Amino acid sequence: MSVRHVAVSVQPGHAVGFETQQEELAGVALTVEGTLPDWVVGRLLRNGPGQFTAGETELRHWFDAYAMLRGFRIDGRANTVTYTNRFVRSEDFRYAREEGGVRRMLPGTPPDRPAWTRLRHSLTGAFQDNPSIGVVNVGGSITAITESPTGIRVDAETLETTGRRDLTTGLEADFTLGHPHYDPGRETFVNLAVSYGRGVTYTLFERDPQTTKPTVIGRVSLDDASYVHSFALTDEFAVVPAIPFGLDTTTLVTGALGDGTFLDAVTNFEDGIGGTTSTRDGSFLLLDRETGEVVREVPADPFFVYHHANAFRDGDEVVVDLIAYEDERAMTKLTVDELASPDPGVPQGDFVRYRLPLEEGRATRETLYEGQVEFPTVDYPAKLGEQYRYCYLAANDDGSSLPTRLVKYDLHDRSTTEWEPDGTAFPGEPLFERAPGADEEDVGVIVTTVLDADADRTELVVLDARELQPVARAPCPHRLPFGFHGQFYRDGNRVRSMA
Ligand SMILES: [Fe+2]
Repeated sequence: MSVRHVAVSVQPGHAVGFETQQEELAGVALTVEGTLPDWVVGRLLRNGPGQFTAGETELRHWFDAYAMLRGFRIDGRANTVTYTNRFVRSEDFRYAREEGGVRRMLPGTPPDRPAWTRLRHSLTGAFQDNPSIGVVNVGGSITAITESPTGIRVDAETLETTGRRDLTTGLEADFTLGHPHYDPGRETFVNLAVSYGRGVTYTLFERDPQTTKPTVIGRVSLDDASYVHSFALTDEFAVVPAIPFGLDTTTLVTGALGDGTFLDAVTNFEDGIGGTTSTRDGSFLLLDRETGEVVREVPADPFFVYHHANAFRDGDEVVVDLIAYEDERAMTKLTVDELASPDPGVPQGDFVRYRLPLEEGRATRETLYEGQVEFPTVDYPAKLGEQYRYCYLAANDDGSSLPTRLVKYDLHDRSTTEWEPDGTAFPGEPLFERAPGADEEDVGVIVTTVLDADADRTELVVLDARELQPVARAPCPHRLPFGFHGQFYRDGNRVRSMA
């Protein structure tokens, strides 16, 4: 009789996506397997968690982790990739390293500070400065950003922190969003600044990419502090989701005195704190990009959204494609414990299309691709705000808290092309870059990173976008936690790859 040895894994494969990587590497030449297209010459800069602890304190939520930048200098002419990773030297990070604690309230972890300090922070709007959402090229320098008034500037090559930038200067706001748009036609950034009071005020503004100076377009105030992570942009409108889920500001202030956090204050506005559904409508605000005025508020059934794929005008409707969740559990369920567990209860986000009538009536919704999916990207420089054909997504399989496949969704014929890496491996946000001179929308590459749990390392993977098949990969010497957003900046191309 043969005995079959079954390896008992203490942790599921996806758990490594939530483990700290302390090691910082600078300028490491990676071995490239395969052949990079010779026109792929540029820099992939990605942001995301690096460290999930502050001294003895385990950070509770995915969004709490200290930001680590990952840089890949890609040169398709020489078929080389050089890798650098480095923590962002925020004040939050410095405090965690030097004092072994949590400096300010993180989304899901309270600060290790006396109650009076917490109260002062909550009353004065003292926000964290740990910028783990993405990167933006402002004024010629790379800046790591999150939902904070502070952006942290880094050197694009070494990723060393070089300075800080107050992103709210001239805006009279508490913070700006971590997903600014760049409108290549008008050569301007477009973003929302947010102020909390009894409700919330959104300030639509543009920012000159060279001078970094903001110009306020307009402001809109809502009675409730609904949460907004990103918005969509057409030539005419900023399309802002006003969801029935957000912050109970009273709980936020009183919670700050005790052990409360931002996420403890997340509520639905109908049923109160800790509800899991809402009977109250959501809506989309169509803000005029010239005046900032609300052209129309289009009611919609309740939904929660982090990320928009794209939006465009279609006759007397505005079409908005996004990843929609049922409710606020899309935020509150993303604790590190839950995500790293063998049977994670990951909220399901579907790729959906909303149609917003400009005259009257409610938003209609069509599910395009059932999730869990996230990180929707398009040919951003060419298709922002326009009819487009392809959306790229990262999709989870059942039982995994991290994506296990990439999906290319064809909006013309509603077909999909998928790529799944071998073994236990988790591909990140797929960034599309069109080949120079290519007329067709999917002629180009997808640049992404894949966390290979079997090999215990992360690798850069470049795929042919048409076939969605890898053409080159470059393994890093170590594993990185699963990341959030990035940009691929092709040399000589001032337009980045996503919102
Ligand atoms: Fe995001």
